[in-house]
Amino acid sequence: MEPEDTIAFNLPSPIMEIKSEILDTKNIALFVKREDLIHPWLSGNKYRKLKYNILKAKSNDKTTFVTFGGAFSNHIVATAGAGKLYGLKTLSIIRGEIDEDNPTLSFCREMGMQLIPVSRQAYRNKESSEEIKNIIQRFPDVYLVPEGGTNTLALQGVSEMLSEIYAQMQAIPIAIVLPCGTGGTAAGMLINPDLKSRVLAFSSLKSNHLYDEIINLANGKNQEFLTVINDYHFGGYGDWDNTLLDFISQFEIEHNIPLDHVYNGKAMYGLLDMIKNDYFNPGTSICYIHTGGLQGRAGLEYIKSKRKR
Ligand SMILES: Cc1ncc(COP(=O)(O)O)c(C=O)c1O
Repeated sequence: MEPEDTIAFNLPSPIMEIKSEILDTKNIALFVKREDLIHPWLSGNKYRKLKYNILKAKSNDKTTFVTFGGAFSNHIVATAGAGKLYGLKTLSIIRGEIDEDNPTLSFCREMGMQLIPVSRQAYRNKESSEEIKNIIQRFPDVYLVPEGGTNTLALQGVSEMLSEIYAQMQAIPIAIVLPCGTGGTAAGMLINPDLKSRVLAFSSLKSNHLYDEIINLANGKNQEFLTVINDYHFGGYGDWDNTLLDFISQFEIEHNIPLDHVYNGKAMYGLLDMIKNDYFNPGTSICYIHTGGLQGRAGLEYIKSKRKR
């Protein structure tokens, strides 16, 4: 059974064209695929990445989804939401201490997820650490999903999103643009045999390895379509500055589309900056994938309020 048959997912997620003076001047058509609107608990690239993992866990009679995440992780929120929606128990191994008031972790608990903090060293070694092995052994019928949710089944789910875009749009966009972290979402685009658009992946972290990682994850498929942009990480993963936060506020006022500060704010900032600087030829059509992550906005407010105390 397909998950969307039984749960009210907003699928196919809508595609909206956005308008602005700069887009008009440069003659660029910019569409946004609103994956953030799929479901309040399970959306964005996380829906795509978890979909086939959930189906496999269910069909193999696995009862507990186990995964890993930092204290503000979108992935653990989506896993907790998926567990609630599909009747699976969820457990997340959390890096470092648990702050009881953190809104991300509070949401996960509300969804019934069990949170177990481990030392940073154990966390680095994941399931090969004795500490984590001992925790996981306490649960029967475990289905393990890696940190960030990237695995073969995740790529399959993402690949489907590209087919959805091509079915929804009147003409195939010249470029597909998206933010990236582990590279799984970008790799999911590349493995789709029907890919005809350039894939521009904006890295949210300071790393020069993402291009190779994405190509690796995609087993070299369609690699000539990929460009990784490393110039808009704003200092690194989880870092931000006021320029970025002001951009996010202004973008929301102008287009009524909320963005998060970890992934989509950076990628959309970068994309518009590159449009301004004539990176794209006039007449280019672009489909930007809004990968969700909006729960992170509450986390940002929480961090800011703690800093003031
Ligand atoms: C909202 C959001 N966008 C983009 C990404 C990056 O996706 P990937 O890790 O597949 O590159 C993530 C994290 O995985 C995310 O949570």
